[in-house]
Amino acid sequence: MVRGAVTLVAAPCPYLLGGNFLKFSELGLSESLLKAIKRSGYEEATPIQEQTIPMVLDGQDVIGQAQTGTGKTAAFGLPIIEHVDTKDPDIQALVISPTRELAIQTQEELYRLGKDKHVRVQVVYGGADIRRQIKSLKQHPQILVGTPGRLRDHLNRHTVKLGNIKTLVLDEADEMLNMGFLDDIEAIINQTPKDRQTLLFSATMPPEIKKIGVQFMTDPKMVRIKAKELTTDLVDQYYVRARDYEKFDIMTRLIDVQDPELTIVFGRTKRRVDELSKGLVARGYNAAGIHGDLSQDQRTKIMRKFKNGQLDILVATDVAARGLDISGVTHVYNYDIPSDPDSYVHRIGRTGRAGHHGMSLTFVTPNEMDYLHEIEKLTRVRMLPLKPPTAEEAFRGQVATAFNDIDELIAQDTTDRYKDAAAKLLETHNATDLVAALLNDMTKEAASDVPVKITPERPLPRRNRHNHSRGNNGHYRRRHEGHGRRNGYRSHRRNDHHGNSHSSRHSFNIRHRKED
Ligand SMILES: Nc1ncnc2c1ncn2[C@@H]1O[C@H](COP(=O)(O)OP(=O)(O)OP(=O)(O)O)[C@@H](O)[C@H]1O
Ligand SMILES: [Mg+2]
Repeated sequence: MVRGAVTLVAAPCPYLLGGNFLKFSELGLSESLLKAIKRSGYEEATPIQEQTIPMVLDGQDVIGQAQTGTGKTAAFGLPIIEHVDTKDPDIQALVISPTRELAIQTQEELYRLGKDKHVRVQVVYGGADIRRQIKSLKQHPQILVGTPGRLRDHLNRHTVKLGNIKTLVLDEADEMLNMGFLDDIEAIINQTPKDRQTLLFSATMPPEIKKIGVQFMTDPKMVRIKAKELTTDLVDQYYVRARDYEKFDIMTRLIDVQDPELTIVFGRTKRRVDELSKGLVARGYNAAGIHGDLSQDQRTKIMRKFKNGQLDILVATDVAARGLDISGVTHVYNYDIPSDPDSYVHRIGRTGRAGHHGMSLTFVTPNEMDYLHEIEKLTRVRMLPLKPPTAEEAFRGQVATAFNDIDELIAQDTTDRYKDAAAKLLETHNATDLVAALLNDMTKEAASDVPVKITPERPLPRRNRHNHSRGNNGHYRRRHEGHGRRNGYRSHRRNDHHGNSHSSRHSFNIRHRKED
């Protein structure tokens, strides 16, 4: 048993290159799990699943790094469920997640996959009634998912006992081992058996953070799905160079032209998120924001609406950057460029998941261009510059959306009973006037009629190209966490874009964040 050394397991990337995948039935999983997998609609294992499931089943410690949206949850979840002894009432596996929303999502997925085996999976997270959690814990979950702060709280109250866990998972491991969480994680790990199996999973794994992680592992195997790029090629990545005060009008025009299905807009601060969501609502978009200052009830309600499609645009701080898997998110807008390139990878990874395509758009002010280059250096992808649409193009986008909606409405065949009324209207009104009035009603006011002022944020400090480090000796910046869709109508048009690209350089500082 060697602590502190990692064996690298090279893995091809058939997921990206279109090769053959193994069937789940070849991975050593039992019938009840294969049933759950089939019900989930998964036909083949993704590469990270194919590589790590046999290792985890074998009891090995694994660091799994694969792009966003490639099924890392099931990669650790399936073998953990396989190992659960349903007759043993103790907690046998613990999964630690950085945010409440992710912890809830992971609990739901593990519950779904373990249902046929009757595995009990519970979740504990901050901001929720602890007494209710304590009551649920008395039902003896075999798998527990939790956020670090609340887990510690339960450990202090002796309402969670980790003395018999076999497997510990740090999902979003690089975030969990970062400064903001490390104390909590160490305190939790100290309460687990030394001979446990430890699994670290993330789409990003900076080397200096991996070094910290390895300290908690025994003879870990590193599985890195080799992809040319760190970000998924399912996301078309664009940037718009604009001044801070220009960004909001450009963004609403882009939404009009691009007509996303569901959108996540990331803002740098909580105030930003509040102002952006209010501004979007004022312009007639169906948007709401989430960040760490909202009550957990509010956060849960907004997330539920977004998942159900009752909200078109979710405005969020980095609280929504990692792990969240919401189908239908076609667009991610970085209203503010993230100061940390890893954060960019996770943010844009909220779209382009499980084989679907997506688009990301990052606003960058002229003096933040170095941050853009830094991101490109990490991802090895050049973002394409996007020309902001004109007011006229935005208007045409809205009209095209309305045309599509009218096509859909007519196709619904529910208009027959209005035909007499329509004939009557046509006796007194000209058809063009009638349709123009309808279109006016279906489209929004011109942006210029609803001015929205967003308080300027201080731009990111100019990057000193030689002085930045991603190690702990860099300066720590606290990251902000935090979270919308438009009223009704939509169409399927693509943006117009042109342009060249550019080069990249240098690395920079580590971030500091805590969210529980
Ligand atoms: N083998 C599979 N075939 C098809 N879909 C899958 C498969 N495995 C997982 N999925 C689906 O892919 C989506 C993304 O999975 P998951 O959230 O686990 O990704 P991830 O790799 O953890 O991403 P992130 O880095 O953003 O956390 C989910 O909707 C999941 O149900
Ligand atoms: Mg994940």
